[in-house]
Amino acid sequence: MINTDISNAYPTNRFSIAPMLDWTDQYCRYFHRLMSKNTLLYTEMVTTGAILYGKGDYLQRDAAEHPVALQLGGSAPLDLAQAAKAGAERGFDEINLNVGCPSDRVQNGRFGACLMAEGELVGDAVKAMRDACDLPVTVKTRIGIDDLDSYEFLCDFIEKVKAQGCDTFIIHARKAWLSGLSPKQNRDVPPLDYERVYQLKRDFPELTIAINGGIKTLDECKTHLQHLDGVMLGREVYANPYILSTVDQQLFGCDKVPLTRFQVLEKMYPYIEAQLAQGVHLNRVARHMLGLFQGLPGARAWRRHLSENGHIPGSGIEVMQKAASFVHEE
Ligand SMILES: Cc1cc2nc3c(=O)[nH]c(=O)nc-3n(C[C@H](O)[C@H](O)[C@H](O)COP(=O)(O)O)c2cc1C
Repeated sequence: MINTDISNAYPTNRFSIAPMLDWTDQYCRYFHRLMSKNTLLYTEMVTTGAILYGKGDYLQRDAAEHPVALQLGGSAPLDLAQAAKAGAERGFDEINLNVGCPSDRVQNGRFGACLMAEGELVGDAVKAMRDACDLPVTVKTRIGIDDLDSYEFLCDFIEKVKAQGCDTFIIHARKAWLSGLSPKQNRDVPPLDYERVYQLKRDFPELTIAINGGIKTLDECKTHLQHLDGVMLGREVYANPYILSTVDQQLFGCDKVPLTRFQVLEKMYPYIEAQLAQGVHLNRVARHMLGLFQGLPGARAWRRHLSENGHIPGSGIEVMQKAASFVHEE
């Protein structure tokens, strides 16, 4: 039996939802939280430039989202330190540095995956962030970049960052090609190498290591958890969010009965009403819920009705209720 006290170890990396730009915004995170109390949520990557010099508020979140980690994109230690401090002041539970994103835009800013080639700089950034706030500072990275893809290279990178006090790494178990592949291709084309991440944990048993990439079921999660401290899921949770409903039971040993999909929907209504009252369009929230009924009869009609009507100005809860009327629970 899994230790049920784990839900008190806060935040825990045992099961988390990956940071996903444009997807894991505050509305998405609120929705996901309804289905699992223990899952660690991540924000989309927020650049230091946006936090320090941007016009908008990029650190918005709802108190109900806890535990939630703020993922930062950047490389200048002083900027990252200021951004981490701002994140701590706004109530985030962890600061995570993105060392895995391969997009050109990110490379031009000299951050993301290309930082794997600059372990010392990442170490300096980690130290600066740790000095600036009391939160855990973690790093999400790949197993390599371009031709820097040997196991020794990965270990060297981890050593350098660990030396500056980072004790938790989330490893996307494929390397990134920094030129030639789009970010989307970089999530599918380079082959997954889970064994390499297991090896890392064997060689650095003192570190907390979570694995990411291509994981689709809770059974797969359990297999990974026999070798590692945590699993992080991205696309599968977004496409099929109701998978979260049994995470607390299956991975955290909790015995609370999960909400049904319709109960989750009902619980979203007051939240959505509150957002609508603040001028947020229905679709900003509803788009994250398209997969809620995946696998049930009527799921397609639910998606279609929401997609066709959710963006119309003035759309309200009635659009969701109508969409839900097409679905038949098992
Ligand atoms: C739409 C989208 C946006 C993403 N944005 C980020 C991001 O902001 N930061 C990051 O570290 N990874 C980002 N990723 C990568 C995911 O965090 C994750 O590493 C990747 O999708 C592999 O996990 P999966 O196979 O479980 O989806 C993004 C992925 C997707 C699909």
